[in-house]
Amino acid sequence: MIFNRRISVVATATALVTLACGAPVAFAKKEPEALSAANIQAALEAAHARYKDLEEGANADYIPALAKVDPKIFGIALVTVDGRVYTQGDVASEVSIQSISKVFTMAKVIEEQGVGAIAGNMGVDATGQVFNSIVAVEQYKGAEMNAMVNPGAITATSMVAGATRDEIWAKILGYYSDFAGRPLGVNQEVFKSESETNQRNQAIAMLMHAYGRIKTDPLRATDIYTEQCSVSVNARDLATMAATLANGGTNPVTGKVLMKAENVPEVLAVMATAGMYDDSGKWLYLTGLPAKSGVGGGIIAVSPGKFGIAVISPPLDAAGNSVKAQKAIAAVSNALGGNPYAVTPARPR
Ligand code: DON
Repeated sequence: MIFNRRISVVATATALVTLACGAPVAFAKKEPEALSAANIQAALEAAHARYKDLEEGANADYIPALAKVDPKIFGIALVTVDGRVYTQGDVASEVSIQSISKVFTMAKVIEEQGVGAIAGNMGVDATGQVFNSIVAVEQYKGAEMNAMVNPGAITATSMVAGATRDEIWAKILGYYSDFAGRPLGVNQEVFKSESETNQRNQAIAMLMHAYGRIKTDPLRATDIYTEQCSVSVNARDLATMAATLANGGTNPVTGKVLMKAENVPEVLAVMATAGMYDDSGKWLYLTGLPAKSGVGGGIIAVSPGKFGIAVISPPLDAAGNSVKAQKAIAAVSNALGGNPYAVTPARPR
């Protein structure tokens, strides 16, 4: 069975950095004890063994193609900021990225227009409502929301600059691919299935247009957003994307600079506020990690300056977050000291 497959990859403790002159060079970096190869691999193996037989939650089915995905897929990947890659379980299977894409489209808008563009348009506050709430749009008139819920996310997609749909789409897919460190593609079955059933998102986009938040064609923005949600990824792709955020916007495996380091904290802040939807507070309380889930079953989490982690397991809880992925990420991060709020007190002088 798929969830019994074990695949372990340990990359060298070598990182690529880009010098001021632009030439990438490799250098050996000392592993902090807690993040030694042995500790990381043991944490991944323990989490996988502990949760592989858990049968809670159910695949999303409001997008018909998602109901057909194998619920037993269970893959864990962790990528450190010095470019080491660790995996456990099924990291060959791919799922659609879904809402995890929202992070990287927001990042693109911030890179193009600055952090004020997001804060000043759909906002950076939690809605306290489900991710596709129309009530939330009405309540806040399309502002004081965030780019992790559908109204803000479709609006963010509408803000990516480009003269044509093709140009915008090529930019978005290319950007995601650079974060993953390999060319990504679209799951056409999922794209078709969601395109046929996304009337609610179309209505949300029309409302965001009516409130002046979406300034281009709202149905085109919804269509591009639907395609971005259908990008196909495995756990390693997602962990590399998360690790790029953990590493200040530079992909730690390829060395490619994708964001200015100064723009990354705002992205992480919105993930922490709303990345796990209505359970974002509970998640932050448990782990301290900025994270983002998708209804395809993936979750990414970022331990700034340390690692990115991702787990794929399609069955979701009532809030729309993968049951096993939440448990596995919390277990691994807590074992490795990933919580950025947990510090050792300094000794008095
Ligand atoms: O727009 C939608 O409903 C989906 N394409 C994405 C929703 C999603 O992933 C919410 N995640 N937990």
